[in-house]
Amino acid sequence: MSARVYVTRRLPVEALTGLQKGIQVETWPEEEAPVPRDTLLHAAGDVEGILCMLTDTIDEELLAAAPGLRIVANMAVGCDNIDVDACTRHGVMATNTPGVPTETVADLAFGLLLAVARRIPEAERALLAGQWKAWSPMFMVGRDVHGATLGILGLGRIGRAVARRARGFSMRVLYWDKVRNQDAERTLDVEYTTLDHLLGRSDYVVVLLPLTGETVGLIGGRELGLMKPTSVLVNVGRGPIVVRQALYDALVSKRIWGAGLDVFDHEPVDPDDEIVNLENVVALPHIGSASMATRISMAALAVENLSTGLAGRLPPNLVNPEVLRYSPESAGRPAIPASEARPVITASDRQPQSPQQRGDAG
Ligand code: DGY
Repeated sequence: MSARVYVTRRLPVEALTGLQKGIQVETWPEEEAPVPRDTLLHAAGDVEGILCMLTDTIDEELLAAAPGLRIVANMAVGCDNIDVDACTRHGVMATNTPGVPTETVADLAFGLLLAVARRIPEAERALLAGQWKAWSPMFMVGRDVHGATLGILGLGRIGRAVARRARGFSMRVLYWDKVRNQDAERTLDVEYTTLDHLLGRSDYVVVLLPLTGETVGLIGGRELGLMKPTSVLVNVGRGPIVVRQALYDALVSKRIWGAGLDVFDHEPVDPDDEIVNLENVVALPHIGSASMATRISMAALAVENLSTGLAGRLPPNLVNPEVLRYSPESAGRPAIPASEARPVITASDRQPQSPQQRGDAG
């Protein structure tokens, strides 16, 4: 019998070609509204694969309701919507879409940085409101980007792509990450430093870390207090990495100069939310990877992961390679009996992702 999958949002048709053969697909028909939780829970009970978005929570409750599930393919780099450990316990493969959105997210990060520094949206609002009376020396003056110091939090693929762009602006680039990358230091001319030092020295701080137990709330009042009053914080990673109230206070009190935010602790953010209405904030609706070509590639990669996993082969972007130890051919004692293991992957397929591949969100 052919495998059944549930796709939680309408995907570009180009991306679906890899799925058609022999797989029965049910798709949540809405383009913009996420699938309601109850609908997803119900659908999960009947499928072997789910292709999901970062708006869908894949947790213990869902996994328990999905006895036949073998793979969850996320159409995102960040996997914070998926309880990966619970997937592993349930013998379910989890995959993401790293690599394809790298340059597109880096473009957006740099665009956001420029928009805040040069007050681009604010200047346009002023023009449209009839506030442009004449060219004037101090009208809408902002901050230079070229020659400034950029601090990158998270030197994964996207962080490195941002660093490459910074070279074109003659910026000095500092970075902080859990793992030091001496290769990147040589090839990209970036300097590894402590978090505190980076915050104190940078004119622009770009957050590109994945959301994990270690990064949630990483940038709070103390950290923002270390930043220069002339500095700008750009967050294209995940909202909860920056403590919202602390950021609001720092922006209102001019402890920092401005912020560019593409991600929020609760999405979609309320348009009346106080932080997005501050003059020194440029806020975007999580569009880091939103170019036509990249979204098609992300969908196609999610489809490839799903199809490969369902065919019993190793998906290219498996984030929980530990799940493979439940394979019938695996040695050692799996935490759950092999008879309950669902992925049908051979030991020779094993090729775990590096932490960097699990790495950045954006
Ligand atoms: C991701 O891929 O994690 C982004 O946040 C969505 O593009």
